[in-house]
Amino acid sequence: MVRVELGERSYDIYIGECWLPRLGELLAFIPQTTQLIIVTDENVNELYGARVLEIIRNAGFQTVSAVIPGGEGCKNLDTSAWLYEQMIAAGLDRKSILLALGGGIVGDVAGFAAATYMRGIDYIQIPTTLLAQVDSSVGGKTGVNLPSGKNLVGAFYQPKLVFIDVAFLKTLSARDYLTGLAETIKYGIIWDQEFFGYLEQYREPIKRRDHQCLMHITSRCCSIKAKIVGQDETESGLRALLNLGHTFGHAFEALTKYQTFTHGEAVAVGMIYAARLACHLGMIASKDLTRITDLIKFFGLPDSFGSLDIGSIITQMRKDKKNIGGKIQLVLPVAIGRSQIFNDISEADVAMILAADI
Ligand SMILES: NC(=O)c1ccc[n+]([C@@H]2O[C@H](COP(=O)([O-])OP(=O)(O)OC[C@H]3O[C@@H](n4cnc5c(N)ncnc54)[C@H](O)[C@@H]3O)[C@@H](O)[C@H]2O)c1
Ligand SMILES: [Zn+2]
Repeated sequence: MVRVELGERSYDIYIGECWLPRLGELLAFIPQTTQLIIVTDENVNELYGARVLEIIRNAGFQTVSAVIPGGEGCKNLDTSAWLYEQMIAAGLDRKSILLALGGGIVGDVAGFAAATYMRGIDYIQIPTTLLAQVDSSVGGKTGVNLPSGKNLVGAFYQPKLVFIDVAFLKTLSARDYLTGLAETIKYGIIWDQEFFGYLEQYREPIKRRDHQCLMHITSRCCSIKAKIVGQDETESGLRALLNLGHTFGHAFEALTKYQTFTHGEAVAVGMIYAARLACHLGMIASKDLTRITDLIKFFGLPDSFGSLDIGSIITQMRKDKKNIGGKIQLVLPVAIGRSQIFNDISEADVAMILAADI
């Protein structure tokens, strides 16, 4: 178990393997209601919906399911509005609980619905993708996309608990598993040299989704995220470290209209460019750059943004909502296990590194 310390908003992340039936016991600790709505997407519902529904009903909850189509295209205000209607129809009141069962899409849109329905009801995250287990289900960032951009509407709203079962990851597609691995590597680079070494050492069993490795990975990433969020819930400083590779990555995703790269693939390429830039500026040793690149490539993640125009990448990076005063904010690794936030990197250096034929 990992605790996220946030005063009266603190909560626990329970991590286990093949332990879904225990969910009922955990819910019994939530005393104020017997009414619950499960929000999930079509794929997850098909695989796990009936089982989760049965476990929760057996635990004594009156439960309905709301199944959204899934995919980035449904992370929007129309889905939020539809969810509110489902919640009204099911008679959910301010004491009811929402349970988000799925990947980051379900977690973000359902978390946002929980944050705003009747000015906020309690919710629980049951993340079923690796990305959601190591990243999006922890930390309380909820939100939806607008036609003009991703995650433009949202709220910081912490769950009451996070329930992780690594057995969910068995059914994940290879590509979605890889996307989560990119975020996993990120934690090693920004925070934990030893963990990076672990990922290198156990890369074969990790690739095979060995359960013991998955338990270690999710526990370690959740501990790091809990520590960071505990110190900087609303991203006024430290939490921005989690954006390593993301300023580059978001530009690659946007310029390819979210069709070419998964989020993790774009972040993987972005982390390589961040490390190359740091190496060019003399901040990180070239042997560390090699270790970062090798690990990313070993897992089969991409190391190139293809034929995108460099000027367009820079223009897109300038639009990143994390920037302040029009200056590109970048997280760069200064060693394996340590990264820093920079606001003063010149665009010429960024362009040079993007153009370099390495
Ligand atoms: N809130 C945050 O802090 C935060 C952090 C990172 C990313 N995000 C958001 O997360 C979203 C991406 O999340 P994602 O990568 O989990 O995508 P996702 O939720 O779309 O899941 C990926 C695919 O896997 C399927 N799936 C989920 N669990 C499965 C399982 N156990 N077995 C088989 N298939 C399964 C889903 O139906 C979907 O098709 C993005 O919108 C991103 O903005 C949020
Ligand atoms: Zn990310």
